Amino acid sequence: MVLRGKVYNIGPYARFHPGGADVLLKVAGKDGTSLFMKYHPWVNADALLEKCLVGLLAQAPQE
Ligand code: HEM
Repeated sequence: MVLRGKVYNIGPYARFHPGGADVLLKVAGKDGTSLFMKYHPWVNADALLEKCLVGLLAQAPQE
């Protein structure tokens, strides 16, 4: 999933998510930033998901 421009493999984290794996897997392959911010903007995802970081989301090429 994407969170604030970062791409994460949330597979290994999903079963530890306090809000449940289901909600997390619903945003798999998508940008989950707005849902993340709706439920818990205070959560430090950068630290929690450090080892799940895949890379940075590329900007779409400008036409
Ligand atoms: C990968 C990104 C995410 C991380 C690292 C994460 C992390 C966390 C953490 C640490 C908590 C506990 C917060 C607290 O008790 O103060 C939590 C709770 C929760 N999260 Fe997430 N979350 C993520 C994505 C999401 C998304 C996308 C949703 C919604 C679709 C969501 C919905 C919830 C809900 C509803 C709770 C409350 C569970 C409860 O207290 O019963 N989370 N999450």
